[in-house]
Amino acid sequence: MTIRVWDYLAEYDTERESILEAVTTVFESGQLILGQSVREFEREYAAYHGMRHCVGVDNGTNAVLLGLEALGIGPGDEVITVSNTAAPTVVAIDGAGATPVFVDVRDQDYLMDTDAVEAAITPRTKALLPVHLYGQCVDMAPLGTLAERHGLVILEDCAQAHGALHHGQLAGTMGDASAFSFYPTKVLGAYGDGGAVVTSDDTVMRNLRRLRYYGMEDVYYVVQTPGHNSRLDEVHAEILRRKLRRLDDYIAGRRAVAARYAEGLADVTGPGGLVLPSVTAGNEHVYYVYVVRHPERDTIIERMKGYGISLNISYPWPVHTMTGFAHLGYRKGDLPVTERLAGEIFSLPMYPSLRKDDQDKVISALREVLSTL
Ligand SMILES: Cc1ncc(COP(=O)(O)O)c(C=O)c1O
Repeated sequence: MTIRVWDYLAEYDTERESILEAVTTVFESGQLILGQSVREFEREYAAYHGMRHCVGVDNGTNAVLLGLEALGIGPGDEVITVSNTAAPTVVAIDGAGATPVFVDVRDQDYLMDTDAVEAAITPRTKALLPVHLYGQCVDMAPLGTLAERHGLVILEDCAQAHGALHHGQLAGTMGDASAFSFYPTKVLGAYGDGGAVVTSDDTVMRNLRRLRYYGMEDVYYVVQTPGHNSRLDEVHAEILRRKLRRLDDYIAGRRAVAARYAEGLADVTGPGGLVLPSVTAGNEHVYYVYVVRHPERDTIIERMKGYGISLNISYPWPVHTMTGFAHLGYRKGDLPVTERLAGEIFSLPMYPSLRKDDQDKVISALREVLSTL
């Protein structure tokens, strides 16, 4: 049996009744699109964040895309973000017709280097798009100051940071709007695709509702400005409602897995060797992924396969080096920390229902592999 980096089957085993009841509730409701379940989930998810609005959409990529459009970002505008992210962050900026501008990440936590942002601002810059990657938040205070000084909006990419705290504030409550993904692997995951945008701005909320529904508003069947078909599905909304009540337990489960890794691997770490995730002061990490680092990453991954353990890399190719973004004109060497990380990082199995004995197998296999290098 392979131990995978993520698996939902154990969780489904425990939650089967609740999940199937959610599906039945929707199927028997008589309303399959934008009904009671989406409305209730939106209300509950906004309330979880202490925000005024949540608009459910069909996935996280479109949450970023519609979030940008709802904030008035479009062709000719520059959006400052990072290249060490899931490619969809950047695909969404491109989809909105805007131009992504990359800054490097920090060596300490692999997140946006906020000291590098000011130099990247031009007269065309309209938005800052911090990505709360791996489960902890970008340093938001400097971004707030820059946004105010230069008249920029902030869209938080929270696809990997549901429930993460930054100086006591939840991810998704520190910008003008924030985009979430409910892709099944996420800290709050649906049983298929899903996403949402959270905001306290009434205009942005109205824009989002219109944009996800072809561009139609009050007058049914009349498009005000062309939009998208980008609705959160009722079934996923109802499942998410039930899972939202367990979100804090999922996070506690992830933290327990992280603590066990830290304990089991503490004495085999060191500079130039295995580096475990570091939590930046002020952050409460939710461990969407447990990203470690080692210069001989590829050998380790290969040898771990021999123990029936399949590891993952988030992400092996920085976005600015991808052929699909060659037109942006970045060259190798432009973002040195991002590029070095891409060759060294890998992720250990991480999900709340990961069994202790499986995790112990991962720890002992990794220790053995490290001792052979
Ligand atoms: C940081 C980040 N942004 C955006 C997305 C896009 O989300 P989705 O896969 O739901 O479209 C993801 C998910 O892969 C992500 O990790």
